[in-house]
Amino acid sequence: MDLGLNGRRALVGGATSGLGLAIAHALAAEGAELLLWSRDEERLAGTAAEIAQATGVRPHIVAADATDPGAADRVAAAAGPLGGVDVLVLNAGGPPAVPPDATSPDAWRSAFQMLAVTPIELATRLLPGMRERGFGRIVAVLSSGVREPIPALAYSNAGRSALAAWLKTVSREVAADGVTVNGVLPGRIATPRVAALDEGAAAREGVPVAEVSARSQATIPAGRYGRPEEFAAVVAFLASTAASYVTGSTVACDGGMLRGLQ
Ligand SMILES: NC(=O)c1ccc[n+]([C@@H]2O[C@H](COP(=O)([O-])OP(=O)(O)OC[C@H]3O[C@@H](n4cnc5c(N)ncnc54)[C@H](OP(=O)(O)O)[C@@H]3O)[C@@H](O)[C@H]2O)c1
Repeated sequence: MDLGLNGRRALVGGATSGLGLAIAHALAAEGAELLLWSRDEERLAGTAAEIAQATGVRPHIVAADATDPGAADRVAAAAGPLGGVDVLVLNAGGPPAVPPDATSPDAWRSAFQMLAVTPIELATRLLPGMRERGFGRIVAVLSSGVREPIPALAYSNAGRSALAAWLKTVSREVAADGVTVNGVLPGRIATPRVAALDEGAAAREGVPVAEVSARSQATIPAGRYGRPEEFAAVVAFLASTAASYVTGSTVACDGGMLRGLQ
């Protein structure tokens, strides 16, 4: 299937690792021009070189910390030289795991800045151009925790739910202008973040990490963690011209892990 992404300009957050890295590769393979965003400039340069070698097209890069209130400004300014962004992939890191009765106001502020305020501000800046051009795709990396809150991930459950509510709200405003707005819910995809969460749980419980990981995978009907490229394929489809009538949706990519109907 031709995804119609050739020559589209895509801004991908969290692009140096895990899900974002796989999404960047998937979009580059479809011929999209890329702006990669994460915090570490050196790592970004390495990722850009790797993608350039694979595709022949060198991505632009921008370093900004999504917990910083100035991040959306910085990233939107970096998108200027592209002359517009057609595909915006909202993604960054995840907040720390804490018992839900041990959260702190500073950590709530930081989590909401990263998971809701920065992505909403960035999307708000890029939406007018998408609407004027009559084409836009916003795809946010959310979490299964938006449907079934995950124990110990209170910051993530709440911050991402706020973003999901905004995505749904704005999707209705921009749908008639050819702009779609969707979220993808990873269940457990094998990335450095999931490995770190398993290691943290193993340390708290005093058991081997292999035991935690096996227990976690046993809760997934597919019987295994997902691969980043399996997740990236869903994002690439939602970014495509083929997905023009899918908007305001949250799509799970979880090997059947979520138990509810929606
Ligand atoms: N993997 C899963 O199964 C899963 C499940 C549910 C939710 N998620 C969520 O999906 C997102 C991506 O997860 P992942 O598994 O791909 O994680 P990952 O492998 O740790 O990658 C995170 C990416 O985000 C960047 N990043 C981290 N903190 C940032 C910040 N404050 N500002 C800007 N960029 C930042 C990282 O680069 P730098 O460190 O260089 O900035 C890296 O490129 C996270 O929000 C995660 O919580 C993942």
